[in-house]
Amino acid sequence: MDQNQDYDLGRPVGPVQGMRQGLTSYGDAHFSLFLRKVFIKALGYSEDSLSRPIVGIVNTYSSFNPCHANIPQLIDAVKRGVQLAGGLAIDFPTISLHESFAAPTSMFLRNLMSMDTEEMIRAQPVDAVVLIGGCDKTTPAQLMGGISANKPILHLVTGPMMPGSHRGARIGACTDCRNNWASYRAGVIDIEEIGMINEELAPTAGTCGVMGTASTMACILVALGMMPLKGASAPAVSSARLRIAEQTGAAAVSMIKAGDPLKPQALLTRESFLNAITVLQAIGGSTNAVVHLMAIINRHPHVAGSITLDTIDEIGRKTPLLVDLKPSGSNYMTDFHNSGGMAALLRELKPLLHLEAMTITGNTLGELLDAEPAIPIPRDLSCIAPFSDPIYPASSLVVLRGNLAPRGAVMKASASKNRALLSHSGPVVVFSGSADLAQRIDDENLDVTPESVLVLQNIGPVGNPGMPEAGLIPIPRKLAARGVQDMLRVSDGRMSGTAGGTIVLHVAPEAADPGSALGVVRDGDIVTVDVEKRVLRVEISDEELERRIAGRKAEIESEKTGNGKIEDQERKSPWVERHGMRGYRGLYMREVNQADKGADFGFLTAEGPSS
Ligand code: FES
Ligand code: MG
Repeated sequence: MDQNQDYDLGRPVGPVQGMRQGLTSYGDAHFSLFLRKVFIKALGYSEDSLSRPIVGIVNTYSSFNPCHANIPQLIDAVKRGVQLAGGLAIDFPTISLHESFAAPTSMFLRNLMSMDTEEMIRAQPVDAVVLIGGCDKTTPAQLMGGISANKPILHLVTGPMMPGSHRGARIGACTDCRNNWASYRAGVIDIEEIGMINEELAPTAGTCGVMGTASTMACILVALGMMPLKGASAPAVSSARLRIAEQTGAAAVSMIKAGDPLKPQALLTRESFLNAITVLQAIGGSTNAVVHLMAIINRHPHVAGSITLDTIDEIGRKTPLLVDLKPSGSNYMTDFHNSGGMAALLRELKPLLHLEAMTITGNTLGELLDAEPAIPIPRDLSCIAPFSDPIYPASSLVVLRGNLAPRGAVMKASASKNRALLSHSGPVVVFSGSADLAQRIDDENLDVTPESVLVLQNIGPVGNPGMPEAGLIPIPRKLAARGVQDMLRVSDGRMSGTAGGTIVLHVAPEAADPGSALGVVRDGDIVTVDVEKRVLRVEISDEELERRIAGRKAEIESEKTGNGKIEDQERKSPWVERHGMRGYRGLYMREVNQADKGADFGFLTAEGPSS
C-alpha cells in the first residue's frame, strides 16, 4: 500500500469539477476533499454519486411566497432530469422575495438576493446551477448574481398562475386588482363585491397572470437564451411546467458534459441583450424590466456601457407591439401560451432579431426556432399579432429626457388610457412623498383638474429605499367620481408591471438628490410631456432652475454639522441621513445607484471594483 498516495484527486476531471471545487479551506486540498466527503456522505451519497457532474438547484420556496408555491414539485422534476442524464442534483436555499411580503419593498431586497445568489453559487461545489424563481425581483436578482458568479446557469421560472372568474368574466392578478380597486374607490362597486373579487384574483400558485414584471422577465430570459422556448408561459400548475423542469435538469448535465460549459459572461453577448429589448418592446413589457435589464447589463463586463436607456428607446422605435395582454391589452398569460408563446412571438420578430445569439442548449436562437414546428393559429384566436399588422406600431416603452429628467425617465406609452395626454402641458400639483400623497390626494379642497400634472417626489432609490411601486398615483377621488380615468403623472418611483395609465416613472436623478430638478418643482409650475419628441420638461428658465437647486443644496448642507455628523434626526433628508445608518439599510442607501443604471450597488457592477 502506498502511504503517500494522494486522496482521490487522481481521476480525470475534464469539465466536471464536482466535489473538487474550491478546496482551499484547510490549506491541504486532499484533506479538504476528504473532509468534504465525510460530511456529504452523511447525507447518504455514494462515491458513484459524488463522481458525477453536480447540478445545484437554487430553491427559493417560502410559505410567504405563493408565486413560488410549486417549487417543491419543480425541484423533484429538475432532479429527475439531472439524474436521468447522469448527473447529481443538489438543491440549496437562497432568500425568497414576494411582492407583498418584503417590506419596505421587494426592490429594496433585490440586490441582497443577487448577492446571496452570487455568493452561494461561488461558495459551493457545483458544475452548473438551475435557478428556480418567478416573482418579480427573483429572476433579475438571480441573473445579476449568476452573471457575476460566472458559473454555468440555467433559469427555470415557476410559471404564471391561471385566471380566476367573477360574474362570468375572467380576472387575474394584478391588473384586475387595480381596476377593481379603482372602481371600489369611485363607488362603482361595494364592499361585498370587492370582497368576492379578492377571493378570485389569484386562484392558483404561480406568478401574476398578465404581462407584469414576472412574465416580462420570463419572456426576456427566453429571448436571452437562458430558458427553453416554452419556458416563459407554461402555467405554474400545468404538467408542461414539470416537463420543462425535467428538460432543464437534463440540459444542465448536457451543458457540463459538452466539455466547455457556457458561462453566462460568454453566452450572453450584446446581441443577446438587443434581442431581449426587442422582446420587451414587442410584448409591451413592464417598465420595471427596464431597471432590471440595466442592472443585469451593467453586471456584464463585456456588455456594460454599450447598452443604455437610449438603446431601449431606439429599439422601441422599430419594434411593434405584437402581444395583446393586460395591462396594455386584454388577455392573460394562459392566452399567450395557447397562442404559441415565445416561439410564435420570436418567429414574428425574426426580421429584428440577432438569430446567431447562443442559448443554453448549445444551439443558436435561430436554430431553436427552426427546429420548433410552427402551428398556425387563426388570427381571432391568437393574442399574438402578425408583424405586418401590429397592435401598436412602435415604441411601447419610451425614454424621455429634458430638464426634469436629464438622465432619463421611462413611460409605457402603450398603456396610456388617454392618448391625448401623450402630448400635454399642465400645471403641477406636487406631493412631497408617499405620506403627503396619502394625506391629501382625496381632499375635497385639493386644487386639481383633469388637466393637472400630478408629481410625486421622493419615491426614488434613496428617497424611499427600494423605490416603491407608488408611481401609479391614484386619480383624486373627486375626479375619479366624475369619471376621470387617466391623468399625466410623474415620479422618480416605479409602477407595478401590471398597472396602466399615462405615467412617467424612474425620473433620474431622483428628487432626493440635492442636484435634481424633480426635487425643486413647485405647485403651479407647468410640466410638458411630448412622447413623440421624447421630452419631459418643466417650463421654467435655466437660471430659475439653477437658483432653486442652489437654494436646496444650501438647505441640505445646513442639515450637516461638523464633519457630517447628524444632530437633528427629524429634519434630515435621506441623502444626509444615510451616512449614519446601520446594517443592510445603510449599505443600500449609501451604495444604490440611480434607476438609469439599474438601482444596483455600484460596487457590484462591472464598472465597480474588479476584485
Ligand atoms: Fe409574484 Fe406578481 S406577486 S409575480
Ligand atoms: Mg409586480
